[in-house]
Amino acid sequence: MENHFTDRMNQDRAEIEHYLTCAFAAEPRYARLQDAMEYSLLAGGKRIRPILVLETCRLCGGDIQAALPFAGAVEMIHTYSLIHDDLPAMDNDDLRRGRPTNHVVYGEATAILAGDALLTAAFEQLTKAELPAEQIVEAVRCLSQLAGSAGMVGGQALDMAGESRTLSREELELLQRLKTGALISASAELGCIAAGGSFEQRAQVRTYAQALGQAFQIRDDMLDVISSREELGKPVGSDQAKDKSTFASALGLETCAVLVEQLTRHGIEALKDFEDAGFHIWLAKSLAQRIR
Ligand code: IPE
Ligand code: IPE
Ligand code: MG
Ligand code: MG
Ligand code: MG
Repeated sequence: MENHFTDRMNQDRAEIEHYLTCAFAAEPRYARLQDAMEYSLLAGGKRIRPILVLETCRLCGGDIQAALPFAGAVEMIHTYSLIHDDLPAMDNDDLRRGRPTNHVVYGEATAILAGDALLTAAFEQLTKAELPAEQIVEAVRCLSQLAGSAGMVGGQALDMAGESRTLSREELELLQRLKTGALISASAELGCIAAGGSFEQRAQVRTYAQALGQAFQIRDDMLDVISSREELGKPVGSDQAKDKSTFASALGLETCAVLVEQLTRHGIEALKDFEDAGFHIWLAKSLAQRIR
């Protein structure tokens, strides 16, 4: 069964890689902008968010081909957020997805523009889905809300404002729910929207993804302490160097591990009404144990 899910994930990933590889291939190329965009977009990455789009579409009874543009859109937003997150003005990191960061290779101005262009392109992808106009409009609404100032960008603002301060557990939870949870939630919701899922299904996959997102970021904070640069493909010790409050610094690694497990269980429970949530259950458990 486990192998079966790994195969399915690899198939999804191949579809996503193909979609992303073709996305800008026919565009005119200006200065080094498109090179910079593709440098980060096609650098690998686990592709967890687009996989969640496709698999949640399937879970809600839809055809994953119809959801591919939504999956591409989410990965473009995620990649833009990483390019900007690594900038000297933010986390000032030099390695991402096993490569020097975008600004190290292309310079800060081009890295900022590559992020801007990926964010803009994401919304163009949504319009390419072969779905009824109402579903596309709902996807635009969902993604713009969850990626913007009330979602991921808002979380990044809280993260920056929290440097050199000790945040309370409530503040940390809000920060993480926004900076990471919002886009993971959007991924599941976009899958449900692509499938034309019901209101109840959407609420259930949202609860699953919110718990998964929180567990994902706690695990990310743990890996910044316990992993290595080679394994992660990004710097370790980066949070401490920037004096960030994280779950790892606030609660310690053992409590973090317990929380990740609790959140994973809570997320899985939210899917109990689905007939076959096997993939989602396996994914949540694997992410809780991930080492990169
Ligand atoms: C990194 O996300 C940023 C966080 C929100 C923790 P991922 O761990 O999904 O990074 P990639 O896409 O695999 O590089
Ligand atoms: C970033 O969180 C989340 C984003 C919205 C990009 P981190 O700053 O912890 O992500 P990493 O550790 O650099 O990948
Ligand atoms: Mg950051
Ligand atoms: Mg960072
Ligand atoms: Mg981190």
